Amino acid sequence: MFVSEALNINEKNHLTIGGCDAVELAKEYGTPLYVLDETAVRRHCRTYKESIDKFYGGRGLVFYASKALCNLEVIRIVNSEGLGADVVSDGELYTALKAGMPAEKLCMHGNNKTYDELVYAVGSGVGRIVVDNKTELDTIDAICREKGKKQKVLFRVKPGIDAHTHSFIMTGQIDSKFGFALETGEAHDIIRHALTLDNIIVGGVHCHIGSQIHELEPFKKAAEVLAGLIADIKNETGYEMAEMNLGGGYGVMYTEEDDPIEFDKYIEAVSLVLRSACEERGISLPFVMMEPGRSIVGTAGVTLYTVGGIKDIPNIRRYVSVDGGMCDNPRYILYQSKYKALLANKSGDIATEPVTVAGKCCESGDLIGEGMPLPPVELGDTLAVLTTGAYNYSMASNYNRIPRPAMVMTKDGTSRVIVRRESYEDLVRNDI
Ligand code: LLP
Repeated sequence: MFVSEALNINEKNHLTIGGCDAVELAKEYGTPLYVLDETAVRRHCRTYKESIDKFYGGRGLVFYASKALCNLEVIRIVNSEGLGADVVSDGELYTALKAGMPAEKLCMHGNNKTYDELVYAVGSGVGRIVVDNKTELDTIDAICREKGKKQKVLFRVKPGIDAHTHSFIMTGQIDSKFGFALETGEAHDIIRHALTLDNIIVGGVHCHIGSQIHELEPFKKAAEVLAGLIADIKNETGYEMAEMNLGGGYGVMYTEEDDPIEFDKYIEAVSLVLRSACEERGISLPFVMMEPGRSIVGTAGVTLYTVGGIKDIPNIRRYVSVDGGMCDNPRYILYQSKYKALLANKSGDIATEPVTVAGKCCESGDLIGEGMPLPPVELGDTLAVLTTGAYNYSMASNYNRIPRPAMVMTKDGTSRVIVRRESYEDLVRNDI
């Protein structure tokens, strides 16, 4: 029934998250409320870390893709589990550094990093910058020259792989705003150029083929393609790049329609393919990096709402309106994403009817989902939407001037606020 080990039902028939009664959490902290289970986040970090140790003999590093959920406490937790972080803006970089993540364990991304962001990244000593275009590479070289530093870079490559996922989150194909194409020789050209720059350390190659992927094949293919590129460059120039970053993208369970691969199985399968690809091409096994986001935090998160309105449209549908919506979870309006919901105050009851769960924004498309099976709903029920740990809080907005919810972290039956609920004062803070 559940998408996550963090969830259960107690003797009151209430949903529990990390051992905490969800109805009590809603009462204590108010709704809407993001709840994130620390134990689950830590367990996911450990699975990745242990897999690197097991399948790559510890020669690798896992960067948590902080775009999935970025705040101080989450970064502190992933740091304490030995992961680094992937940051994609000055704001994420600032948050990671402020949370105490060592700069050398950061990997900086972005298809249009500003000059100021590059100065900030180089100046703070980030371990790797993933270069997305030539202007950026030359700018990094110039900044380093001025600062008397050298910067390690990786090159974001479009491996030409079609991962079957939503077109908005598919990034490995040639028609993508990210990275250098292989087919056109663009990727080879930029690496050859980088090798001529004095202040650039050519670390290796990177690709990220998309997100919420449930198949192994595209990941295996991507690793082979990147090994091919390392070999090509070695054959042409004699320089063997020592690092490979395979990005993120491992899918998680939102509903029963999802059949996720276990990460350790994925890492093992890719490692086998990579080893033989390297052997065949006469290159050493590179230092391997990964950037999981969704699979670290996704299923560890639940959003709690209070049902405030029920509207029946005869022979059409029943709307159940909650006190949040697209402001705290824009994934339905963006991607028609599917979620599993249940009533936290009667979580073991049988779902009898499909309802449309609507948010409270002035947009007809502001839905959490359509055809969501729930037991008979009553006003005041606590609705729990599962698997909201990734890309909910991080993509939240203040549309309709709605304050963003608080985030509470649970652990073994205890709870604590890790992000305060926004106040009216927060809403007008920057208004003049
Ligand atoms: N590395 C890079 C370079 C990425 O662009 C991403 C995600 C990741 C790692 C992490 O991927 P993950 O393991 O989380 O799949 N807002 C969308 C997802 C966008 C993903 C963007 N890049 C959603 O809500 O589904």
